[in-house]
Amino acid sequence: MADDSKTEIAEFGRWLRGLNFSVMPAMAMAAAAELGLFGRLLVPTAARDLARETGCSARGLVLLLDALTGLQVIQKQDDRYFLTEKARHFLGTGDVDSFEPFLMHLHQIAPGWLDMAEVIRRGAPHQREADDGRYVNLTRGLAATNRPMADLLQRRFPDPPPQKILDVGCGASSWSRPFVVAEPGARGFALDRPAVLDGAAKVFLGEVGLLDRYTFLPGDFWETDWGRDYDLVILGHLCHSLGPEQIVALLRRANAALGPGGRVAVIDFIADETRQEVLFPLLFALNMLVHTDQGRTYTEGEYRSFMVEAGLNPTERLDLTEAVGLAALIARAG
Ligand SMILES: C[S@@+](CC[C@H](N)C(=O)[O-])C[C@H]1O[C@@H](n2cnc3c(N)ncnc32)[C@H](O)[C@@H]1O
Repeated sequence: MADDSKTEIAEFGRWLRGLNFSVMPAMAMAAAAELGLFGRLLVPTAARDLARETGCSARGLVLLLDALTGLQVIQKQDDRYFLTEKARHFLGTGDVDSFEPFLMHLHQIAPGWLDMAEVIRRGAPHQREADDGRYVNLTRGLAATNRPMADLLQRRFPDPPPQKILDVGCGASSWSRPFVVAEPGARGFALDRPAVLDGAAKVFLGEVGLLDRYTFLPGDFWETDWGRDYDLVILGHLCHSLGPEQIVALLRRANAALGPGGRVAVIDFIADETRQEVLFPLLFALNMLVHTDQGRTYTEGEYRSFMVEAGLNPTERLDLTEAVGLAALIARAG
């Protein structure tokens, strides 16, 4: 056997051995977010004080703090723990850049993943109670994690700059925000369910000082009137939760809402055409398998044909994070 393939086999074995433990860091981080530890660890705090403040058991808290120390999220001096310098950029502040809501979202998706074998057996998603509020944590978290990519999309978006922008299933409105900021006369229209508009969009847009630049359209996007004459309709992280016919129907609604020369941007994790090269969209499809009736990730070719079927003219692809296949696919009004 060639040395190269021996090394590959050994590496694969190491990867398999590590797999059993790979969810542990994520779950420890999610528990710390859920317990509200990060904000309290902005100042050095002893474990016994933290246990008293949070109503936690001392044994459990010390073991969690030690694990977070090992992960270099916090550090320990004498008997006090505090956030490391690098972690303070993402955790503890509770502001728009905080990753904590995203970590808390893990609690919401973990049961679905645990149920995956059963989901595949019965061909129906994990059963959970309807709760629009579940999107609040996710979309508040997405506002922080999307921010650099949303800025990049706006900078690279082909001229002319859009003035009237509809953000469908907007969550916090993180994809439309940079377009509204960039043009003094631009106006955003945020469409989502009322609980999400109240819990995520209005809070986020208030924090970034844009509340008066937005109109809110509460409701179900299959039923609500979207309005007309938009320069840009954004479908961000939305199509992956739908089946092909639903995507075409949504794109048709987008096409009808555009003014002359208007454009649609589908922002999503795009699978490569052979569905074997870029890993993340393939894993993310499983997240949609366990949580939706018809969702999965799609290739650029599939999106182009959905766009054409909806009467749109696909134009360009703007890659936002190639490592995870995140891209915006643009189409012009037909
Ligand atoms: C994964 S989040 C994406 C949020 C945002 N576009 C982003 O990328 O950050 C999906 C959003 O679509 C909204 N949504 C899903 N189905 C909807 C429907 N039928 N009507 C209105 N909003 C819906 C959810 O409430 C949620 O805010």
